[in-house]
Amino acid sequence: MQKIGIGLLGLGTVGSGVVTALSCNRQEIRGKLKAELEIRRILVRDPGKARPVEVARDLLTTDFGQIAADPSIQIVVDAMGGTDPARQYILAALAKGKHVVTANKEVVAKYGREILAEAEKHGTGFCFEASVGGGIPVIRPLKESLAADKVEEVLGIINGTTNYILSKMASEGKEFNLTLQEAQEKGYAEPDPTNDVEGFDAAYKLAILTALAFGTPVKFEDISFEGIRRIAREDMAWASELGYVIKLVAAAKERESGLEAWVSPCLLPLEHPLAQVNDVFNGILIKGNLAGELLFTGRGAGGLPTASAVAADIMAVAQKVLTGQAAGPVCTCYRAKPVLPKEEVTGRYYLRVKVKKGDAALPVNNLLIQERIGALPVAKKFQQGKGGTLVYFTQPLQAGTASRAAAKLGMIPGVQEVSLLRLEGLPAAAAWAAATGK
Ligand SMILES: NC(=O)c1ccc[n+]([C@@H]2O[C@H](COP(=O)([O-])OP(=O)(O)OC[C@H]3O[C@@H](n4cnc5c(N)ncnc54)[C@H](OP(=O)(O)O)[C@@H]3O)[C@@H](O)[C@H]2O)c1
Repeated sequence: MQKIGIGLLGLGTVGSGVVTALSCNRQEIRGKLKAELEIRRILVRDPGKARPVEVARDLLTTDFGQIAADPSIQIVVDAMGGTDPARQYILAALAKGKHVVTANKEVVAKYGREILAEAEKHGTGFCFEASVGGGIPVIRPLKESLAADKVEEVLGIINGTTNYILSKMASEGKEFNLTLQEAQEKGYAEPDPTNDVEGFDAAYKLAILTALAFGTPVKFEDISFEGIRRIAREDMAWASELGYVIKLVAAAKERESGLEAWVSPCLLPLEHPLAQVNDVFNGILIKGNLAGELLFTGRGAGGLPTASAVAADIMAVAQKVLTGQAAGPVCTCYRAKPVLPKEEVTGRYYLRVKVKKGDAALPVNNLLIQERIGALPVAKKFQQGKGGTLVYFTQPLQAGTASRAAAKLGMIPGVQEVSLLRLEGLPAAAAWAAATGK
């Protein structure tokens, strides 16, 4: 049986998962591919380090040159992370005529176009299913299964760490900092959680999804993003009372003047298909003009789920090796549609205003009228003789208008706190009843 050689870059969570997947599912892979996949070299930083999987010591190397120069390695798998030196190694492998599979969202989001052009130049494959949604198949469905559709909208919960934190805040009523600390203790959040909690990870993935869904080049810098640090326990409680949950949503939508592409904490009505995607799970909702709404959910991270996507990509490019076929065009962009600036994105908002005294409520309402902010009061709680909270849902507003109004509200004497969060989906039944009394 023909053997296909693999050079693996990295032997951490994903790299070890790939080693395990290729060995424990060897029969299935061999049966379907009619060939053997063999790991011939593994690049690491520290060959002396203890590993979660057993590998022959002589497979390990710290020199990428040994992989690039080895003609028996036809496929290079990047499970390394970061952009430097991952980008150089990927480009060098493609230039040597090797196919490349990666799980690295950052390198795809930032250098995808350059890498795809290099792959096309050399007739090699470049696959990145694991870069978004871990074990959830979403890249291939977008590229292949939905190839004839015009995608109208992509909405996703695509970062497991923040979804875990928000799910725990909602179910246990705890503050963000405490929940983050617990997530770190359980290994669900990194010691430095910036990449996840500030929204970078979701933004990398959204850049990839947007480019594929809308057939247009999207740069990582085009994505406006914010994380979940400012989500307060009060907002969680109000959301729940009104029939909503707060999720970190990644959204890409086609508008006449351009594409919306943003990552933001968002209130979703409980009836929304993504509202029940909890804990470390991911969910991606794609709306095509032919297929309608499709929901993909599953484990968005972890060694084995991610290795499932990596191994399937390896098998796809291995077919090319076996048949001697060039990989063919790999870039699916066919037009140039701009991404709208952050301030021009339009949507509805949840607005919570905490006032020190009841008489501050009047200037709040006056300012909303003065700024022409259509806002429906959906809840109000005051203590006799003391301050309280006003909650509104706004009409669709441009993001710039909404944040300017929130800043002005914050300057009204007697206003203690203003919280502004996006709203997605139709109004939840509970909020509608609260606002209209019906
Ligand atoms: N973890 C997940 O669940 C998951 C899910 C989807 C996608 N991804 C992506 O998959 C990639 C890998 O993630 P991971 O969680 O597996 O990372 P990880 O556990 O930190 O492992 C990284 C591996 O790469 C090696 N490495 C890093 N820089 C290197 C360099 N300059 N030269 C040689 N070796 C180097 C490390 O070697 P040493 O072990 O010797 O330090 C380590 O084995 C990232 O792009 C990540 O975004 C991860």
